[in-house]
Amino acid sequence: MFEKIADNFYFIQRGWLSGNHFVFNGAQKVLIDTGYKKDVDTTLRCIKKTGLDPADVDLIIATHSHCDHIGANKSIQELSGCEIGMHPIERYFIDTKNDWYTWWRYYDQDADFFTVSHSYEDGDTIPLGPLRLRVIHTPGHAAGQISLYAPQQRFLISADAVWDGDFGVLTTRIEGSASPFMQHDSLEKLSKLDIAVIYPGHGTIITDPRNALDRCRKRLETFLKEPQRLGRDQMKKIILYTLLAKSGFPEDTFFAYLSKSHWFSEVADLYFQSRYRETYEEIMAQLLDRRLVIREQGRLMATLKA
Ligand SMILES: [Fe+2]
Repeated sequence: MFEKIADNFYFIQRGWLSGNHFVFNGAQKVLIDTGYKKDVDTTLRCIKKTGLDPADVDLIIATHSHCDHIGANKSIQELSGCEIGMHPIERYFIDTKNDWYTWWRYYDQDADFFTVSHSYEDGDTIPLGPLRLRVIHTPGHAAGQISLYAPQQRFLISADAVWDGDFGVLTTRIEGSASPFMQHDSLEKLSKLDIAVIYPGHGTIITDPRNALDRCRKRLETFLKEPQRLGRDQMKKIILYTLLAKSGFPEDTFFAYLSKSHWFSEVADLYFQSRYRETYEEIMAQLLDRRLVIREQGRLMATLKA
């Protein structure tokens, strides 16, 4: 599904495994974010539907280096020879082939490095035909995450800084203990903008930006007041993401798999007094109860749109 949001500019809504994309098909051919690696074929198909041949892409703008936003960067770059731009911090992670700060190794995700040619700093303007996108550095979820604001058209491409009342997971182990405070400041920064519509990194178009930002701020406040809620949010989001990325997982070995991962035990250490098995059972019971996860022939499957 795609929607025209300005002349030659399209929003493509994906799911939770692959982030949303944007296509600018003017004199210059530009993509913003390219989904998860496993979904490359679907991503290319979605882009073609807007009328743009991925082989003709001139530039990919990556809001950040997480696996669900850069998954087709390498293959599209090989296909088209396109340039790729991102914030200098994220660029540094890619340039130095750091698969930890990009979260790929930490969360056992699949992704490829690519070549970055442009850096976008806070306050820069990226011209897309007649559109002017202002770069807004919005750290918290990712150290070098950028959101893109069109002041004339009053829309915001928020990446994972703002979804509809929620935001991308805060991984303090990698982003640091200040990451919730950086997210707070990013939300404050975005709240000062005159925005009519938000196009988030995941989920549907947000037509009441005030309300979405208020709900994000309240959610963050509850995380800061009760840190265990932050831990629960991280557990749930990453378990769901893992199940989407791996197309489900055998239930009898899932806890053992998580226990060997880099992230699971230390999140339980940080927020749940190292109660590994009990925490796993509590979180899974909640996910199963809400039908966010179902059992299918011995496998746990996430029900969210991939
Ligand atoms: Fe992200």
